Amino acid sequence: MAISAAEQTDMSGQPQRDRLRALPARYYVDEQVLAQEKERLFFRTWQYVCHVSALAKPGAYVTAEILGQKVFVVRTRSDEIKAFYNVCPHRGHQLLEGAGSKQAIVCPYHHWNFTLDGDLRRHRTASTSEAPELSEICLSPVRVDRMLDFIFVNLDPDALSIADFWPGAEEHIRTTCPDIESYTISTSATVIHSTDVAANWKIQVDNFLECQHCRHGHKSFSDMLDIPNQFHTLHENYAYNFIPSSGKADNLAYPLDPAHDVMDLHFWYLFPNLGFGQFAGPGNFSLSQWLPAGPDRATRISVSLEAAEPTDPGMADRRERRAAWARDVLQPEDIAFMESVHQGMYQRCFTQGWYIVDWENQELSESMVRHFHDHYLEHMGET
Ligand code: FES
Ligand SMILES: [Fe+2]
Repeated sequence: MAISAAEQTDMSGQPQRDRLRALPARYYVDEQVLAQEKERLFFRTWQYVCHVSALAKPGAYVTAEILGQKVFVVRTRSDEIKAFYNVCPHRGHQLLEGAGSKQAIVCPYHHWNFTLDGDLRRHRTASTSEAPELSEICLSPVRVDRMLDFIFVNLDPDALSIADFWPGAEEHIRTTCPDIESYTISTSATVIHSTDVAANWKIQVDNFLECQHCRHGHKSFSDMLDIPNQFHTLHENYAYNFIPSSGKADNLAYPLDPAHDVMDLHFWYLFPNLGFGQFAGPGNFSLSQWLPAGPDRATRISVSLEAAEPTDPGMADRRERRAAWARDVLQPEDIAFMESVHQGMYQRCFTQGWYIVDWENQELSESMVRHFHDHYLEHMGET
């Protein structure tokens, strides 16, 4: 796939050698920055809640928390998916916990009763009570949208739709991974996997967005893939990274079957804190989301889709070998890098890093990192 001239110059049409200083260190460690990020990024962008299979029937619901803001999504009787804040308008109690199915939403505290559409159906009154009309009160709605089979919410009522905020991303994924239609949520991942890392969430995104560290930092990964011939493209609010196969079915990472497996690797990064990926191996597609737990920690949640039907007798074993390698080799290698970088942000001499940008040798290029930081500063209202 050719890279357009615009993309080669970070979409500006001009080489940008004057833009080689990275995001200042204080953005990675400052509590006040995190408070601004909540208001300007996390409460205004699309955040993952669940796979659509968790909302298969009317009444099915899933709760979620976005940096302390509690929400739930529910399939209504008319088969719509709606989202609401998970808080009772009476006195503020939480309405639902976990995931499950309900005929109605009944607050545990004083049993106010709401329909799946969020309308108040009953509150506890007597004929002598002074009480608000039922029609005066409803649950507070939250924007909900869907990409692929993933359900997202956005706490900003004026937010662009997913199709407008990440324009072309879903189509790009569907074209690149045409088998995704046949994948189902992994049985081993019906519960979301999460990994806590002692590094700011942006350090984790930065790490996801460059492969300059791959050849020496991920030796087995680099044996399986043709690291020098990777390329990436930059888009509005998202980026795409492709790493072709090295062609080695037997490699230092895990065994592949060229007759049945995906051999290349595809990553998408969607601003601000979402990643999608298809790895070499039996049919697969994964979602990752980085959620800060303070400036110094972030949790990466991961959900995996996989081919619903076995393609060959060895598939289950290869899938297991791939998962074990990711858990025991690749992830620890990256976590060590990220946690060290986070400590670097606290060193008195380190105020700001650097980018390498190279469109001829994209293995070396940190163009996607700069692209992320550009979007980040714009949304934070800074330049
Ligand atoms: S707080 Fe929910 S019914 Fe009172
Ligand atoms: Fe890495």
